[in-house]
Amino acid sequence: MKTIKNQRLYVGMMAVALMTVTVLATSVSHTEFKPGEIWTDTNGVPINAHGGGILYYNKVYYWYVEIKTGKTRLPESNRSWGGTRVETVGVSCYSSQDLYNWKYEGNVLPALQDDPNHELYISKVLERPKVLYNRATKQFVMWMHIDSQDYALAHAGVATSDSPKGPFRYVGSFRPDGAMSRDMTVFMDEDGKAYLFHASEDNATMHISLLTDDYLKPAGRFVRVFEGRSMEAPAVFKHQGRYYLIASGCTGWAPNAARSAVAESIWGPWKELGNPCRGPDEEVTFRGQSTYIFAVADKPGTFILMADRWNQKDLSDSRYIWLPVTFTDNGFEVHWQASWRLEN
Ligand code: DGJ
Repeated sequence: MKTIKNQRLYVGMMAVALMTVTVLATSVSHTEFKPGEIWTDTNGVPINAHGGGILYYNKVYYWYVEIKTGKTRLPESNRSWGGTRVETVGVSCYSSQDLYNWKYEGNVLPALQDDPNHELYISKVLERPKVLYNRATKQFVMWMHIDSQDYALAHAGVATSDSPKGPFRYVGSFRPDGAMSRDMTVFMDEDGKAYLFHASEDNATMHISLLTDDYLKPAGRFVRVFEGRSMEAPAVFKHQGRYYLIASGCTGWAPNAARSAVAESIWGPWKELGNPCRGPDEEVTFRGQSTYIFAVADKPGTFILMADRWNQKDLSDSRYIWLPVTFTDNGFEVHWQASWRLEN
């Protein structure tokens, strides 16, 4: 009896050792971006990082993301529009200093398995997490889309942490300025003021809402933009004093043509500039959907568009498209490249 137990223990230990060796053997150092291809982390494990955003803090990039894993299913409530789902697991964080190689830092805001009434319960929606660092309060503030499984709740959620690596403490969710909120992003301006951009009014019209100085809630001033244009997946950046936006149309997980816009003031007027994508599949955002645009540190004028290539039938196999932004006389473009590097 004892011998069989020992044998099992030995076989188990060998299996763990073999798995470790396999993982170590497959971990490679990346030196370029390859949009749409499987991207492994520093452990050699495929990166699982959807709808995410980047925070640059103390010379480190942090990538906060939706985890998409497990079986993809289509709840009855979402059947009419193909709103497939996987169970919510939480928000992962990855860190990197070179943007090519990412270390998994763990699940910094885990979903809850035991409380069906909680907003972070596994059957509910937690999407598009974005984190800001508040210099005054020294807090890391996460904003995210919180929803019921059928997307009827339409809330923005907030969580905070003292460390970029979490854990984050869930504060709660609400409708900003009393308005519906689904796809969203946050943008911090050079003066430290931060704004929530969110698809509102049944996704028909976007709202831009100033946040309080601690970034924890709306300050009460907001503007309605792109009225009736049905835009979601907003990503915002600023270059040479101008504000730029990229967003998608509203077609569920299916890709569509990206929209772009420019403004001299964050409060508008925002002028639409059309589809900025150039190259194969430009009419469907390279088969992706925008999630974030960020400035590369120490490379003035260098911005990267992050997009999700959703796999509606197997959401866990959704991929990432990272491409550089190029500026034109009137606005910006994003050109497809199968692989690319940041210039030295
Ligand atoms: C499109 C949104 O941009 C995604 O974040 C997600 O909410 C899907 N719709 C759900 O179908």
